[in-house]
This record gives sequence, C-alpha cells and structure tokens, in this order.
Amino acid sequence: MTSGPVIIGSERSEAGLALGMDLLRQGASALDAVEVTLRACEDNLDDHYIGTGGLPNARGEVELDASIMVGSSRAFGAVGAVRNFPNPISIARAVLEKLPQHSLLVGEGAELFAEEQGFVRAELLTDEAMQIFRAALVASSESVEGENTDAVPGDDRYRIAATEMVRRFLPFDGPWGTVNVIALDEDGEMVVGVSTSGYPWKYPGRVGDSALPGSGNYCDLRYGGAACTGRGELSMRIVGAKMVVDSLAHGEEPAEACGLMLREASLLPDIYRSELRTLCLTPDGRHAGAATQGGSTYNVMTTNSTEPEIYARTQFAS
Ligand code: GLY
Repeated sequence: MTSGPVIIGSERSEAGLALGMDLLRQGASALDAVEVTLRACEDNLDDHYIGTGGLPNARGEVELDASIMVGSSRAFGAVGAVRNFPNPISIARAVLEKLPQHSLLVGEGAELFAEEQGFVRAELLTDEAMQIFRAALVASSESVEGENTDAVPGDDRYRIAATEMVRRFLPFDGPWGTVNVIALDEDGEMVVGVSTSGYPWKYPGRVGDSALPGSGNYCDLRYGGAACTGRGELSMRIVGAKMVVDSLAHGEEPAEACGLMLREASLLPDIYRSELRTLCLTPDGRHAGAATQGGSTYNVMTTNSTEPEIYARTQFAS
C-alpha cells in the first residue's frame, strides 16, 4: 500500500522541496521531482555545499558529485568531481537514462559527456565562496596554486601543502553538507537523489559517498530509500545508505534503521570524524532521520503541505 506522493529532504532541501512537491501533485514522476528539487538547491548561491557557490577543493576549484537511484529497477546514475557544470544532478540523470551501459562517470569524462548532452558550462566559484576559501588559507598559512606563491613556489611543494591541508582538515562547525532528497510518486515509484560540492578544500579528484551507490544513496522499492550527508568517508567504509535499507528489509522501523547505521559508523577509527546524518523513506510513506549531533532536522512534504514541515532527527548516542 502506498501513502500517496511524499518528498523528504535533508537540511537546506527547502530551497527546492516545494517545487518537487508541486510536480508530484500534478502526477509527475519521482525522478522529475528529485531532479527539480536538487537543481533548485544547486542554484541556491547561499548554500556553500552544493552546486554554484559550493566551496572549492584545495586548488580553489569547485568539484561536484551527484547521484540518482530508482527504486523499482535499482538503476543508478552518477557523476563525480565534475567541474564547470552547475547542475550535476541532471548530468547524473542523463547517465542513468542516456548511458545505461554505465552508472558513474568522473572528472574529464563526465564533463565530456555533459557537453555532448548539451549541458552548458558556467563558473561555479562565487566571490563569497572564494572569500571563505581565502580566509581558510590565511588562517592555515598554507598556500595553493596561484596564491601566495612567495611561500610555496613549486608544484611538488604545492602537492605537499595540499596534502597537509587535507590531513589537517578539521570538522566544520557550520551548516555542513550535502543535500539528500527522496521522493515517492503517485505510481508508487521511489527515487533518491544526492548532490554536493563535497568536503571543502578536499584533495583534487576526491569523490565522496554522494556519487557512490550504497554509500551516500540507495533505493530499493521493496524496502525503501536512504541517503547520507556529513563525513562521506565514514558512509563509504560501511556502505551506509545500503545498510539503512538492509535494516528496513529486516523489518526495523525507519528510526532504528538510521540509528543502526550511525552506530556502525561510530565503531570506525577515524581521526577526521565529524558529523554523519542519514534519512530514509519507506514505500508506505514512513520516514525518519538520525544524526550524530543534536539539533539536526529534515524536511517533509506531502500533498497536504503548504511548506516543508521540519522534523527532528534522532540524535544517535554511541
Ligand atoms: N557526504 C558528502 C561528502 O563527503 O562529500
């Protein structure tokens, strides 16, 4: 039995969630609803963790990851480390639909494919994101290509500095994160979408959980869909989103399924440990979110909603 259309999303999905719900109300597919929602989030210049305005890698370049997964077929499309294309969720959907012999394209190949599909290049690094990047460099007195070249003149030294920067990266205490969206349409199809600019100042070419099936994104219409935000290296190591869906398959309630995944992640040794969050939706419309930090929330819209309703995530206490 399905619940009728519903769409849920992580913190800051509110930039697009009402657009997705409008489509679902009109009978559109969950694929369309997820894509429209995440495109609006990617275009939100005030959000520094996704799309245009996202914080750059250690070289000062914005690199984006995104994925989309369909519950009935478990078909998956994704891109990683894409530069200069503002809407990676749409390129991920194009991989899903136009390149079914593959599931994931990265870097230059993903950019070539985007160009072939008619996506238009754009500058993704905004002045505001660049200022945040520069402030981080000043605070760390590190140097990157094209910056402070007196201090670090060579490529080798640059690489050492960039690696050091990644090693020293501390948990970010702002509104961290990737945006997750899960939609259920009137035909009972479920789709999970994830989009991110990833870890600020990440090593160039680093791809996180958002582009990986099972880690940041998983959807199986028999049991439900799940997605993760926060420290992707943790969800990659335990295949976190799949773990949540596996728990649903074993009959756990959504909140318990989310908590079990966070508990497993808490067992991993990780000197860069920071927040990890997850949310899930079942085919009959039950949902939950959980986080390692208090005060985290997620958004929900049903056909009766006039605006996103904010739900508290369960705080996981290890
Ligand atoms: N969860 C997003 C990332 O680690 O890139």
